[in-house]
Amino acid sequence: MRTYLVTGGAGFIGSNYIHYMFRKYGGDIRIINVDALTYAGNLENLKDIESRENYTFVRADICDKEAIAAIFAENDIDRVVHFAAESHVDRSIRDPEVFVRTNVLGTAVMLNCAKAAWELPDGGFKPDKKFLHVSTDEVYGSLEEDGGYFYETTPYAPRSPYSASKAGSDMLVKAYMDTYRFPANITNCSNNYGPYQFPEKLIPLIINNALHGKKLPVYGDGRNVRDWLYVEDHAKAIDMVQEKGRLFETYNVGGHNEKQNIEIVRTILNTLREMLPDSDPRKALVSDDLITYVEDRKGHDRRYAIAPDKIKAEIGWEPETMFEDGIRRTIQWFFENEDWMRNVTSGDYQKYYEDMYRNR
Ligand code: NAD
Ligand code: DAU
Repeated sequence: MRTYLVTGGAGFIGSNYIHYMFRKYGGDIRIINVDALTYAGNLENLKDIESRENYTFVRADICDKEAIAAIFAENDIDRVVHFAAESHVDRSIRDPEVFVRTNVLGTAVMLNCAKAAWELPDGGFKPDKKFLHVSTDEVYGSLEEDGGYFYETTPYAPRSPYSASKAGSDMLVKAYMDTYRFPANITNCSNNYGPYQFPEKLIPLIINNALHGKKLPVYGDGRNVRDWLYVEDHAKAIDMVQEKGRLFETYNVGGHNEKQNIEIVRTILNTLREMLPDSDPRKALVSDDLITYVEDRKGHDRRYAIAPDKIKAEIGWEPETMFEDGIRRTIQWFFENEDWMRNVTSGDYQKYYEDMYRNR
């Protein structure tokens, strides 16, 4: 039975990936989820799988060498899927250091522990061991409004502390592959959306605010473009790259679903109006008048757009979920999980929100 070490599995994409993997492989794999449970980590995301025999949760910081080395010493790990990171651009603008620590140092610790556990006396590696580093399209910088795409060959040009720290982590993985022939892949993915996304990110924040009749903050002119991917499609891509991709290669993940932020906000408002029954008192709160243009994000990247040609040609992956379906599924999930939203927006979230949006 193959054993996976997943880092950051209590976060948004990590928890969706774990659900996906158990749906796909059932009892044929074992997953060890290592997560420090920062503000973004939430064990409620994994409530329905926590009692599985082939699932183990370990609370640990990926920067803690001893803790990570102990997991490798006690388990014969076959696959590492490395999600753990500080992931929110706005937070990185206010407090860059924690991003460097977790994203760069934490990745170095993960690489080093995997290398130590997997290497053979002749400098090679045990067979069929693989490390997948989950990264972002933001490492490529910002595209012009009127053209161009991110390819795997696009030079790195990160522009925020978040993307700079992710670029640093990618470079470390590349260095391990080049220097030691360490068996790894990197995926660079576009913006994800779906269940369990923390409401500091655009889509869940807008859904939550609209349902409460709160202002919908749109940065700048609202015309920045992101390339949106349903999170389950990302989970599937990660698994396919790890099993079918060529080792040492990078694969871009995304798929020609570019939307301006204001378009996203209007789609959410229209979809909420369609989906809420007239008898639901929240329906009256959902209004275009809530849209509020606020001060722009510092250094706000104008446009991201992935060219997914390589992953399609080599691996046969392409996005399956149309945005119109994905956004309905996401909203339906938030309707059915009001307690989840209530729990994550109590306490620290209120303070974050007040600080972040005070002058906006
Ligand atoms: P998230 O913020 O929802 O989750 C991050 C998880 O990592 C949390 O569970 C948190 O507790 C854990 N974590 C943070 N610091 C840790 C540490 N020091 N040690 C152990 N665990 C720690 O993030 P996400 O949106 O799920 O993103 C996951 C990964 O995917 C990140 O590497 C991110 O850069 C990348 N990514 C995200 C997107 C997106 O749209 N969200 C797109 C492309 C790539
Ligand atoms: O492209 C992949 C990246 O996508 C990931 O690597 C990051 O981890 C993830 O957070 C995401 O980064 P973005 O900065 O693109 O996502 P965010 O949801 O924060 O913002 C999306 C767009 O919406 C961006 O142009 C900023 C804008 N925005 C965001 C918020 C939170 C607003 O206009 N208002 C808001 O309140």
